[in-house]
Amino acid sequence: AQQTHIRNFSIIAHIDHGKSTLADRLIQSTGALTDREMKQQVLDSMELERERGITIKAQTVRLTYQARDGDTYILNLMDTPGHVDFAYEVSRCLAACEGSLLVVDASQGVEAQTLANVYQAIENDHEIVPVLNKIDLPAAEPARAKQQIEDVIGLDASDAIECSAKTGLGIDDVLEAIVTRLPAPGGDPDAPLRAMLVDSWYDAYLGVVVLVRVIDGQLKKGQHVKMLAARSEHSVDRVGIFTPKGVAVEALGPGEVGFITASIKEVADTRVGDTITDVRRPCTEALPGFKPSRSVVFCGLFPADSADYERLRDALAKLRLNDASFEYEPENSAALGFGFRCGFLGMLHLEIVQERLNREFDLELITTSPSVIYKIHMTDGSLVELHNPADMPDVVKIDHIEEPWILASILVPDDHLGAVLKLCEDRRGTQIDMTYVGTRAMVKYRLPLNEVVYDFYDRLKSVSRGYASFDYEMAGYEDSDLVKMSILVNAEPVDALSMLVHRSQAETRGRALCERLKDLIPRQLFKIPVQAAIGGKVIARETISAMRKDVTAKCYGGDVTRKKKLLEKQKKGKAKMRMYGKVEIPHTAFIAALKMR
Ligand code: GTP
Repeated sequence: AQQTHIRNFSIIAHIDHGKSTLADRLIQSTGALTDREMKQQVLDSMELERERGITIKAQTVRLTYQARDGDTYILNLMDTPGHVDFAYEVSRCLAACEGSLLVVDASQGVEAQTLANVYQAIENDHEIVPVLNKIDLPAAEPARAKQQIEDVIGLDASDAIECSAKTGLGIDDVLEAIVTRLPAPGGDPDAPLRAMLVDSWYDAYLGVVVLVRVIDGQLKKGQHVKMLAARSEHSVDRVGIFTPKGVAVEALGPGEVGFITASIKEVADTRVGDTITDVRRPCTEALPGFKPSRSVVFCGLFPADSADYERLRDALAKLRLNDASFEYEPENSAALGFGFRCGFLGMLHLEIVQERLNREFDLELITTSPSVIYKIHMTDGSLVELHNPADMPDVVKIDHIEEPWILASILVPDDHLGAVLKLCEDRRGTQIDMTYVGTRAMVKYRLPLNEVVYDFYDRLKSVSRGYASFDYEMAGYEDSDLVKMSILVNAEPVDALSMLVHRSQAETRGRALCERLKDLIPRQLFKIPVQAAIGGKVIARETISAMRKDVTAKCYGGDVTRKKKLLEKQKKGKAKMRMYGKVEIPHTAFIAALKMR
């Protein structure tokens, strides 16, 4: 294709503002698919994605559009993942385009997540076309949304396009704006090959499919290529484009987006953001911005039924075929048996994997408290990266501990601001900034990641009645006064419940957890202490009282000595039971206890 007639773009939008609907509409109105094919939403094809209403994997579609100037243009739509956990994947996708459509629901206005993605697009030098969607809704206020785009983002919204992805109104204007307002890609067709690996996935028929954007040179079938970060070489088997159906082509030139297959065994052998070049005539410089993907949240996954261990192992291996960003290794817990320690890009990523295991593989799982990576500096100068509190080294050998922090941006309507600030303060947050956008506040907080991993999203949604939107980026490590809190049931530590907490919060957390467990563990014939402890020191305690069998009820009349003797006997029996008796904590109790933190 002629370089001047190519436009590469992505769509930036907050969840539910209509990104997928608009993409489908663009595909349909350029005639890439028949109406029947359109019936299945094309861009988010995974069932789970559709049900949860989120886009997980980046995809791309090549559209052919005859513009008002009479020429035919190639429009490559790159679909970006919609969630904060996938921020790096989003950034690579944006780096592969020259421009983006900023879709804002005209009845909702600008949201926090939109902002983060817009800033990334601006960093990538994108030309940005604001699009006000859902103008068919009676509640739509395009003028207000425009004003917000100008005030909050600082973009000129005077020629924003108004459209309805649902009814099709204004879609032609969107297509025309892509052609006239976005730049054509640069790049030298005669230079050595330089292409970016945008995404990859496993296909049952083709094996690993790699989505690429060519910057310079040519990518051809049979070519011997090298991936710079992965340090691997492959021979290209297939070159193609998505229309959205896969179609083979001879070659891809500068500015073009397409896929290759090259007998790559696993998705894990490819790295998003990597540079692909020719082995015989390599480029001199790698593309900027490559970052290896790294898990930030860890937890243990155990089968609820230990007989399912093998099935869980197979399921994890299958999932990883398509999702190299999640990692796992075997783990053994005294309370929960055999399972796996898993690492994720973030909380939502964890939830997605958990739900897929549950749904696609019919596995019932127990998830332990999510943990972040703590950097433990030992007195001997060595550094331990801890992501399982159960493996915490001996306290006397620890010099100091660092924990990871995030910078959170929260956009919240005025009426709920107080509750949101309180939540952030309770989670050890430090306010960095607060600005106003009409009746909404944009607050920036530094927060410890370990305070956010568990139920922060849920709490934020609930204290703001669903109106707050949230986005975050990692913001480095800092020294922290963290302690390991163990939970003891009947004087036995329960490893699955141990956690690292900030000293200032240990007591509150410990007490809440003990109270909860007291209600969750069924009574037995003997008293069971439930304790939270730091080192050897108990900081909270509850007692589950024994079921009392009143043996004296059997003694009619008033023989006091006999009554006494019986009570004596009963006490001894209890002592025996306490000694040998093993407390059975029901799985449901674990799950409930782990949910609260
Ligand atoms: P994610 O995939 O979760 O990021 O969401 P999205 O931004 O892709 O939103 P999606 O296209 O799934 O649309 C969200 C909801 O808004 C759906 O119920 C759509 O039917 C609806 N919707 C999208 N565009 C319009 C529009 O122009 N008008 C109206 N009335 N509804 C729309």
